[in-house]
Amino acid sequence: MNKKSIKDIQIKDKLVIMRVDFNVPLDKKTGVITDDTRITAALPTIEYILKNNPKKLILMTHLGRPDGQVKEELRLDPVAKRLQDLIKSPVKKLNDCVGSKVKAAIDSSREQVILLENLRFHSEEEENDADFAKELASLADIYVNDAFGTAHRAHASTEGVAHYLPAVSGFLLDKEIEYVGRSLESPEKPLAVILGGSKVSDKIGVIENLLNKADTLVIGGGMAYTFLKSQGISIGNSKLEKDKIDLAKDTLEKAKKKNVKVVLPVDHLIVDRIDEPLKIETTKDASIPDGMIAVDIGPKTIELFKNALRDSKTICWNGPLGIFENDKYAAGTKAIGEFVARLGVKSIIGGGDTASAVAKFGLEKKMTHISTGGGASLEYMEGKVLPGIAALQDK
Ligand code: 3PG
Repeated sequence: MNKKSIKDIQIKDKLVIMRVDFNVPLDKKTGVITDDTRITAALPTIEYILKNNPKKLILMTHLGRPDGQVKEELRLDPVAKRLQDLIKSPVKKLNDCVGSKVKAAIDSSREQVILLENLRFHSEEEENDADFAKELASLADIYVNDAFGTAHRAHASTEGVAHYLPAVSGFLLDKEIEYVGRSLESPEKPLAVILGGSKVSDKIGVIENLLNKADTLVIGGGMAYTFLKSQGISIGNSKLEKDKIDLAKDTLEKAKKKNVKVVLPVDHLIVDRIDEPLKIETTKDASIPDGMIAVDIGPKTIELFKNALRDSKTICWNGPLGIFENDKYAAGTKAIGEFVARLGVKSIIGGGDTASAVAKFGLEKKMTHISTGGGASLEYMEGKVLPGIAALQDK
């Protein structure tokens, strides 16, 4: 279903309230923002709105999980400051997000951009309380949702409020709908899906959904060892989800029936212990000796994966292929990342760890789309309806 976007609505002289996802990581000691990707990702929509002369632009977001309590360390002052530096115009930060004082402060504000306080200081936000959603709606004439990272949550500011105002998407949400939604719903084929990360259980929903669309499924990272184990291959002390062995086996059989080619690692980088290892070796084949732990895919697997990906038109990648945070164990994730970037096909990268890996290797600009959602992109790739998108007006 096509949703109305910010381009489909008049902004001039209107009070616009926009949900953004400025849930940025903060340094625990200093409170300084350590990665502002989520703020910069919303700038195109913010700049577009400001260019179109709104009466005011009111931004709202959550930060962390304060559970309905005011937590001083989760106030949005550092976010307001960073935003102000990025848009180069003043941002008025308020100390609450609803109530008569907030309304009065918006009315009298000389600044055109206003940032409400952390929505999750009120438990009603996560409860999707109708009165709280109406209070938010009463602050403005138009609602814009550009918070893809929170689109999988049916909260008052992502879902509830959309029932009380003309509700449209921002450009970031449009992009995520286009790439994570539409281009995986009906992909340009062949579609190759690269799945990694530590747990089968995190990705099983994505596998189930994409088995119906993919031509090739490449599996690496911690989850690969449960798949190998399900094929009777010894995995030493590598990551194993014992209760998912049968599921892994069934999934491989299902893939075979659906003619999806599954590619598993054929060699590994192994260590005797993850921190400060005394032994680092490459296995000759897929089996891992007793006592050893696999931490990355090996050189033969890198070549095998590249060959499996080479002819794809679309590549969807979710989950790193080794413990890439440690430079010693990053070669596999880096090599495949660089290969995908070089191929120049449509590349859709899931958020969270995969986005961090792509950033670590400086490949951000070479991918077609890097999702700003962690949980949200996973649920979207599972083919689920995201409440924050569903609530917007249809075209
Ligand atoms: C995220 O970081 O994934 C989003 O901002 C959602 O946060 P949440 O998992 O606390 O709802």
